[in-house]
Amino acid sequence: MSFQTAWRSPSNIALVKYWGKTSPQLPTNPSISMTLDACRTETAVEIVPGSGKIRVWVDGVEMPSFVPKIAGFFKAIAERHPWTAHLDWSIRTHNTFPHSSGIASSASGLSALALCVVSLAKEFQERIPAKDFFREASVLARLGSGSASRSVYGGWVVWGRTPSVPGSNQEWAHPYPHAIDPVFADFRDTVLLVDVGQKAVSSTVGHGLMNNHPFAAARFEMAHRNMESLQPLLASGNVGGFLDLAEREALMLHGLMMASNPPFVLMKPATLSILEKIQSARREGLEVGFTLDAGANVHVLYPQRAEQSVHAFVNDSLSVHCKDGAFIHDRVGAGPTLITEPTPL
Ligand code: PMV
Repeated sequence: MSFQTAWRSPSNIALVKYWGKTSPQLPTNPSISMTLDACRTETAVEIVPGSGKIRVWVDGVEMPSFVPKIAGFFKAIAERHPWTAHLDWSIRTHNTFPHSSGIASSASGLSALALCVVSLAKEFQERIPAKDFFREASVLARLGSGSASRSVYGGWVVWGRTPSVPGSNQEWAHPYPHAIDPVFADFRDTVLLVDVGQKAVSSTVGHGLMNNHPFAAARFEMAHRNMESLQPLLASGNVGGFLDLAEREALMLHGLMMASNPPFVLMKPATLSILEKIQSARREGLEVGFTLDAGANVHVLYPQRAEQSVHAFVNDSLSVHCKDGAFIHDRVGAGPTLITEPTPL
């Protein structure tokens, strides 16, 4: 007897950043992200009765080095899903973006795996009512990687309790409930690949830097304020105000890292060159801005109506700062999908 399922799940980029957590993987401040479209993970899972043995294949090649991370995920969800320990797991996965691109694959990868687990729980145990499906997937994804909680929904997604977002809570993400101007429903993000190596600071170490951080209280307060300030900007289609806020958030994230003990500087000289060029292009009237993750890559943000000019700007002026000239054009996406066709994974 065996059961199988497969999901395709996207990455996401936060505009108000989650940075700092308490156990069990609960955020110290609220965050909001756009779910992406092109950057995603496809994962197929097969289970047979067993004792919790895990095997992982990436692009068809068995990767024992991936097992400890996945085993950690199963350990984290064991209390909610004890049945998972009585099966053996074959997990086949593929990312649409280059493996060592420096794009965090944890959001797409762990949300895809969480969706597979909830699908199997539904089939195999019939315990998950349809209305709770994505909520449960978000909780499990969160236990794997906080930002993955937001990838189970398309569009704009909130995670973490904050007074300005009714229904927001710590344990699972949900779609942003306030009005969004159409310009933001179709927003663009071109990811410039500046540094494609190993992350200089792991997520766990990174979030840990906020424990006893001298600016922690001010940061957490600021994240709530930024969530509130975003609301009228998104509702009215104020692209300039939105880009200003997104850039302040990104630089604050890096400022916090630079003021941590030990301090981390994750931007590279090429990152700074790109940021300067983007800010000067915006001063000259181009609708373009940036955000950053915990790394050197730059996410170039712009509305669909500026696409042609921004693509030319990326090609002519920014790609020279990218590793091997590489970048990925992406946009707000519709969220994960169940893979129904036979998977080549
Ligand atoms: O999900 P994690 O633990 O990899 O943390 C992600 C943290 C940031 O990407 C920097 C911000 C965010 O909200 O996604």
